[in-house]
Amino acid sequence: MGKVAEIVAAHTPFTEGDIISALQDVQERYGYLPQPAVDELARLSGQPVARFYGVATFYAQFYLEPHGKHTIRVCRGTACHVRGAPNVMEAITRRLKIEDGGTTPDMLFSLETVACLGACFLSPVMLIGNQYFGKLTPDKAVRIIETIAGNNSRSEI
Ligand code: FES
Repeated sequence: MGKVAEIVAAHTPFTEGDIISALQDVQERYGYLPQPAVDELARLSGQPVARFYGVATFYAQFYLEPHGKHTIRVCRGTACHVRGAPNVMEAITRRLKIEDGGTTPDMLFSLETVACLGACFLSPVMLIGNQYFGKLTPDKAVRIIETIAGNNSRSEI
């Protein structure tokens, strides 16, 4: 059974309420939502393809283009801003050589800024995957990213 067929099977009987979680499953498998996979999802589930794209474009969590394995979200909210988030962001962009919205050529990291991560007491804050890192300095942020990059290269050996 193909990957998408497995996802549909896991959600059977497939209803409109399964669209978000099925898209999340596809994105977890591929790192983003490849068009052929979304089309296959619609075909196998019997739901209109427009519903899938409607959901995929509405929610910021979904990516229709290839995306890095780790998404770094740096908070640019007021609390983080006044406690040095711009310096943290600058250090990260310099280290990874990408701008806000960019992805490293090795597809390891994508970088985004967000309005508030809801953890202002930890400001300045970044979120990598679903893990929060708070009270950042530019050096601390770069060290965290280098640790993740190092762990990744070790796990690929
Ligand atoms: S302003 Fe950064 S977490 Fe709220």
